[in-house]
Amino acid sequence: MDGIPDVESFVQEKLGNDTSGHDWYHCFRVRTTACELAKHESGCDIEIVIYAALLHDIPDPKLVSDIAAADKECVELMHKLNLPQGKIDHVMSIIHSLSFKGANVDTTMRTIEGKVVQDADRLDAIGAIGVARCFAYSGSVGTMMYDPQEKPVLHNSEAEYRKHKGSAIAHFSEKLLLLKDMMQTRSGRAVAESRHEYLNNFLNQFLTEWNGTDIDELLNKNSNT
Ligand code: ADP
Ligand code: NI
Repeated sequence: MDGIPDVESFVQEKLGNDTSGHDWYHCFRVRTTACELAKHESGCDIEIVIYAALLHDIPDPKLVSDIAAADKECVELMHKLNLPQGKIDHVMSIIHSLSFKGANVDTTMRTIEGKVVQDADRLDAIGAIGVARCFAYSGSVGTMMYDPQEKPVLHNSEAEYRKHKGSAIAHFSEKLLLLKDMMQTRSGRAVAESRHEYLNNFLNQFLTEWNGTDIDELLNKNSNT
């Protein structure tokens, strides 16, 4: 575990200035959440969980064009920190399988370490922080906040999912609202239930304001009193 401060510095340097919802603090939260979930699972190698949580977004195709180079940097760092080859391979295999790749694409994790890191990453995509990250990402890639004409798409392949440029609100149906039922740990599912409910409340309020029904209700109520 001695190498962890070096991994933290590396991630801070790489993602510290990100404004798409994938900044250092996202990785920090994923690490904290993953460690909490791991406490409820038996036989979890916490060192692998921490390395994978901290490094998980370094080779993310949303953030870098040269995935192989980003992978290499992660592997070289772990070698330098004397992590055994078996653990390095495990961390890299978690990172490569972690991302959501479309509604109908299977991303089930093989190991308990992978399951807790993936659940932790997905918990950071829902709830209030999930809403904030979704709009931050949408602004960073220049997609609309909401397009009432748009129909959300449930993708069958990673390529289609990555190509798609939907609005932030469409992303709720294309990904965020699906995550609760994709949780792979019991503790992750329990937290996801509550954060999922927050997403639904947010969506209801957003659409109420969009359609002006809150104004109608409030003004009618006021004029009747
Ligand atoms: P993953 O690797 O599963 O995509 P990340 O940690 O990279 O998870 O976070 C992805 C987050 O980025 C989403 O949860 C969402 O907040 C945001 N995001 C990704 N794609 C879109 C999109 N098309 N529109 C809005 N937000 C998006
Ligand atoms: Ni992430």
